[in-house]
Amino acid sequence: MNIRGVFKAAPLVGADESFAADAIAGLTARPKTLAPKYFYDLAGSALFERITELPEYYPTRCEIAILRDHAAAMASMFPPGAALVEFGSGSSRKARILLGAAATVAAYIPVDISGDFLQQDLTQLERDLPRLFVHPLVADFTKPYAIPAELATLPRVGFFPGSTIGNFEPAEASAFLRHSGDMLGADALLLVGIDLVKDEATLYRAYNDAQGVTAKFNLNLLVRMNRELGADFDLAAFEHRAFFNAAQSRIEMHLVSTKPQRVRVNGIEIGFGRDETIHTENSYKYSVESFQALARGAGWTPVKVFSDGLFAVHALRR
Ligand code: AVJ
Repeated sequence: MNIRGVFKAAPLVGADESFAADAIAGLTARPKTLAPKYFYDLAGSALFERITELPEYYPTRCEIAILRDHAAAMASMFPPGAALVEFGSGSSRKARILLGAAATVAAYIPVDISGDFLQQDLTQLERDLPRLFVHPLVADFTKPYAIPAELATLPRVGFFPGSTIGNFEPAEASAFLRHSGDMLGADALLLVGIDLVKDEATLYRAYNDAQGVTAKFNLNLLVRMNRELGADFDLAAFEHRAFFNAAQSRIEMHLVSTKPQRVRVNGIEIGFGRDETIHTENSYKYSVESFQALARGAGWTPVKVFSDGLFAVHALRR
């Protein structure tokens, strides 16, 4: 077996991994904000899995179908003996589609903040693909980190599925593309999944599902603060709100205070006005062209797009 435990990448900058500090800073700012990475505790990750199965939430289904339909074409662009580096691999379900089609891939390096999540189905992956060297890495991939020395000589293919890049501000997405390019090295290939701009009704429904799973996912942030930060949010006094901000080409998610109220978080009192919101997520939507322009600006050359009209997987070369 190849798995030698989950490796902790040496952070190159000081990790300020503090939910408490971020929550206080975000809740005392105006407008109030909370970073979407905090959605994904155990309950939040399970809720996100349910979101991906909702009839209204098309991105996951579309991307998986695109990967299945075009896996061979994608694999044909891989340099032989490559390391596949996946950014933010919750489950390796999508990488598995590529790995199944790319027979010469030597190593698979899922990089994720959460070690628990990483370990999950890697054992099965190793059973299915015994030739593969699997080297999970715990790191905040939005910050610089070191790639393990054993893998430094392999040509690299980056994989960033799920439109996760949509959570970044365009300038942050560009910075991410640039520094992932530096990390992947000269001649690297990068496959990025991007949700496309489309009619507002389809976008709206994807974030306002009939079963209320997305609302639960959003409100789970309050549950999490109550549990982990000793907060006293009254869940009945906050509502889920999601809408398409056309001017900025993004879905915004907020938690809306339905009345004036005070909440204690980690011993600090936070006041809310009626209708005041905590801005919890931006999910940017790009056209094929607007994403290609962003990629070019970050030092990548777009080489191919695989799309079904709703979602796009971009192949970029350094
Ligand atoms: C995981 C960031 C791609 O923006 O669609 C799903 C997260 N939020 N429903 C997205 C999410 C609400 C998702 N990403």
